[in-house]
Parts: sequence; C-alpha cells; structure tokens
Amino acid sequence: MIQNFYDKVAKKFGIYHTGAKYSKEYLAGDPEEIFKKNLLELSGKAKIALDVGCADGRFTLSIAPYFKKVFAIDMSKGMLGAARKLQKEKGVLNVSFEEQNANKTTYTNDMFDLVYSRRGPTPFSEFHRLLKSGSYFIEITIGEKDCQEIKEIFGRGQGFGEWNSSRLDEDRQKLKDNKFEITFAQNYLYDEYYSSYEDLDLFLQGVPIFEDFDSKKDSELLREYISQYQEKKGIRFPRHRVVIVAKRI
Ligand SMILES: C[S@@+](CC[C@H](N)C(=O)[O-])C[C@H]1O[C@@H](n2cnc3c(N)ncnc32)[C@H](O)[C@@H]1O
Repeated sequence: MIQNFYDKVAKKFGIYHTGAKYSKEYLAGDPEEIFKKNLLELSGKAKIALDVGCADGRFTLSIAPYFKKVFAIDMSKGMLGAARKLQKEKGVLNVSFEEQNANKTTYTNDMFDLVYSRRGPTPFSEFHRLLKSGSYFIEITIGEKDCQEIKEIFGRGQGFGEWNSSRLDEDRQKLKDNKFEITFAQNYLYDEYYSSYEDLDLFLQGVPIFEDFDSKKDSELLREYISQYQEKKGIRFPRHRVVIVAKRI
C-alpha cells in the first residue's frame, strides 16, 4: 500500500527528501517554477487554501505566508509528524496539518479559495465540492513518460507500460466532467543528471517510482541502466511532469 511506502520513507529519512545529488536540464521551462508561479498568482492574504497530499510539508510552509490559512492533508502519519516538526522549527502559525483522506474529507462545501496538489492525489469531484464557485484548482503531476527508460530496464514501476495514455488528456477530461474549465495545461519533458551510482540508488529509495525498490536485489538492473545512460554530465534520468490550472464552474 502506498501509505506504508510514505511512512517508511518518513521513518528512514525524517523528511521527503533523500539528499541525493543531481542537476536538472529543462527544454521548455521548469514545471515546478511554473506551478508555483500560477499558484502565487492566485494566492491572497484573505484566501484559504487546501494542500492535498502535503507529505513533509516543506512546500506548504514555503507558500503559507501568501495565504490567510493553509489546510494541508495527508494519510501518512509519518509524513505528518515530519511536517509538524518542520512547522515548529520554522514558527509558521497559519498552517494546519491534518490526517484526512483526500477522496472524502470532513471539510464543508465551498470552504476553499484554492485547492492544489503537488504530486498528490486528485479526486476532482471532492475538489469541486470543496471549492467556492469561480475559484481554482492547480496541479503538478507525474506524466506517463516519467522515467520510462529505467522502468523498461527494470520491467516494472509506477504506471509501467502506459506510455501512450496521456495524463494531461485524462485529467483535462476528468476535470471537464467534474465541472471545471481548463485555463492552462502543459506537458514538460526534462532531464535530471545523477552524479553517481550511489546518488541514483539513494534517490530511488525515497520515491515511489519502484515502490519495492531494493538496493541489493536491484543493483544489477541499476548498473545496466547506468551503463546505457551514463553521459559526461552524469547519469541521464528523463522526467515528465504535467501542470494544469482549472476554474471551478
Ligand atoms: C509525492 S507525495 C507529495 C509530495 C508533496 N506534495 C510535496 O510537495 O513534497 C504524495 C503524498 O500524497 C499522500 N496521499 C496519497 N493518497 C492520499 C489520499 N487519498 N489522501 C491524502 N493524502 C494522500 C501520500 O501519503 C504522500 O505523502
């Protein structure tokens, strides 16, 4: 179960970040920056936001000063523990980290001015219920071609084999079906370059690309990947992200 995965990561690393060293090279802009820019354009000191699948809360705490209040939900007790610890360290008062299932929250209708999901779950009908009419949902999510090359070598992984089912088109359609109007939708393909075998191995331990990744058992497959994708700049690791902004009708 995915929740066990996130609890395991929180226990092992303390936060949702392994410290693996890598650089990034973008062809059409940094999707994280574009997501954040869109989010901040829709922020406001009188607004209440919902962060869906907040994990260790680092991102939540970084954008909290732009809102009146942010409710941040997750189902992993380990991640919520890490988030509350970080909140205490940073002294941020206007965030409430809560254990809630995004599919069926306990919040009232029309409670939020903005709902966002940064690689978290996306139950759009629940988001429609929670958002005020005319307010926005923003997501950055994982595209179908993310890490396709390493998944093909491993013969498994998140979304394995679904290389041609467009996540952007699927989410666009689901949002329309749930009475949202799309105002922005874009695919981003880019490359990460890992410094060493150890860095890529460490990175794979902290992300659900292979939920069952095992440094020992998978070492031969990882060496095979590196032998094919080692370049001067480092070990190339192609990524795919999707950014969508939608208005609740
Ligand atoms: C990739 S992480 C999100 C990272 C985080 N948003 C960030 O900015 O670093 C996905 C998170 O979604 C949470 N999650 C998955 N399904 C959920 C659900 N149904 N309700 C609430 N949280 C969920 C997981 O526990 C995990 O912490």
